[in-house]
Amino acid sequence: MKFFIDTADVGEIRELAQTGLVDGVTTNPSLIAKSGRPMAEVIREICEVVDGPVSAEVTATDFETMLKEGHYLAAIASNVAVKVPLTVDGLKTCKALSDEGTQVNVTLCFSAAQALLAAKAGATFVSPFVGRLDDIGADGMELIEDIVQIYGVYDFPTEVLVASVRGPNHVVQAAKMGAGVATLPPSVLRQMYNHPLTDKGLAAFLADWKKTGQSIL
Ligand code: G3P
Repeated sequence: MKFFIDTADVGEIRELAQTGLVDGVTTNPSLIAKSGRPMAEVIREICEVVDGPVSAEVTATDFETMLKEGHYLAAIASNVAVKVPLTVDGLKTCKALSDEGTQVNVTLCFSAAQALLAAKAGATFVSPFVGRLDDIGADGMELIEDIVQIYGVYDFPTEVLVASVRGPNHVVQAAKMGAGVATLPPSVLRQMYNHPLTDKGLAAFLADWKKTGQSIL
């Protein structure tokens, strides 16, 4: 399972990339706005830090302009994955860009029917938003299960990129279902390291070690 980081904060990305666990990055217009920086500059810097796919989202809503924006974003670096919304024009753009060999991430997916269309349009990734479904009382993980099943039946190469992740449990459930990628807010990746028994066990080991008076080096 691949881990992407869901942020446009280059400092955070640099720090987390050092763990060797970061396979890619996803951004969206809200995350770029939060960074307070020019989008092209941010995407270029992220692509220098991370070798894997870096999603950069178009902001037009019509096919012609989305395609132009997609070309502009894809030219920033060879590892840019152009992110398009799951709309008719977004999927037309997805088809055109993927036919040209550009990686495309189809975002704002909230149903299995939409995910089926994204795969048919040649998406490299489809991004179902599990947390936002949970927020309205639906079951985000049920959607992941459905998409993984459908893509498996037809052997679609589109990767299921679990987005809008709220905590480690979403990641574990996604892994059990065989989703290819989860994009994690930095806080969730950090939470995944934590277990109180790890802290307690380490404290006990170190206390016992101190009593021996030894040092390994
Ligand atoms: O980047 C897409 C997605 O992960 C956004 O998540 O937390 O804004 O619902 P969230």
